[in-house]
Amino acid sequence: MTRLSILITAGPTREAIDPVRFISNRSTGAMGKAIAKAARKKGHRVILIGPGENLSALNMRKKVLKNFTAADAVVMAAAVADYRPQRQSARKIKKSAAKMVLKLIKNPDILSEIGHKKENRVIVGFALETENLYKNAAEKLKKKNLDFIVANQLTKKHNVFGRNKTSVLIIDKAGSRKLLKNVSKDKVAEEIIKKIEEIRSKN
Ligand code: CTP
Repeated sequence: MTRLSILITAGPTREAIDPVRFISNRSTGAMGKAIAKAARKKGHRVILIGPGENLSALNMRKKVLKNFTAADAVVMAAAVADYRPQRQSARKIKKSAAKMVLKLIKNPDILSEIGHKKENRVIVGFALETENLYKNAAEKLKKKNLDFIVANQLTKKHNVFGRNKTSVLIIDKAGSRKLLKNVSKDKVAEEIIKKIEEIRSKN
């Protein structure tokens, strides 16, 4: 088996409002860390970006791009904030008016950017959807030019955050789908690494 260099992002991004406040999300980074563990177990070289770093989307993008050239595969498991505050205040914002408006601007889509310059790299994305799981995830797969996408359904009954058991639908660009129902994140991680190895061996 060839040893691959696998770049993995994990966890939430953090978008600063001022020196003490930020916008973030509930991602724990567990999925990305499980993927890193599964990759190392198979003898691959892992570059893990995110856990404990408190990166903004812009800084995560920089790190990903820096390590992209040397990577054989990239797994974007990070929950990247779609928007960031337009302005970061250098000073702590004081309370004054009864209402305050925070203007947000769009972050670059890291996954889409690397998907469109992938060459023979294997690019894997995640999707978290509250409805139309297959349709929405398949659209993202196509739009971002991915090899496959790991789709999670978020419902009241099934909250992926902080749980070890999960259910995912893996959809690849050839249109094949595989449902992993109520399995551990380690199991999902092993399947992801196995699929990367299979695709790489054909590239
Ligand atoms: N992603 C990224 N850069 C962003 C936003 C998302 O690289 N600025 C990646 C995530 O790491 C994940 C996938 O894209 O692999 C998730 O996309 P998602 O946020 O679900 O979809 P969007 O395309 O942002 O669409 P929407 O939020 O409207 O569902």
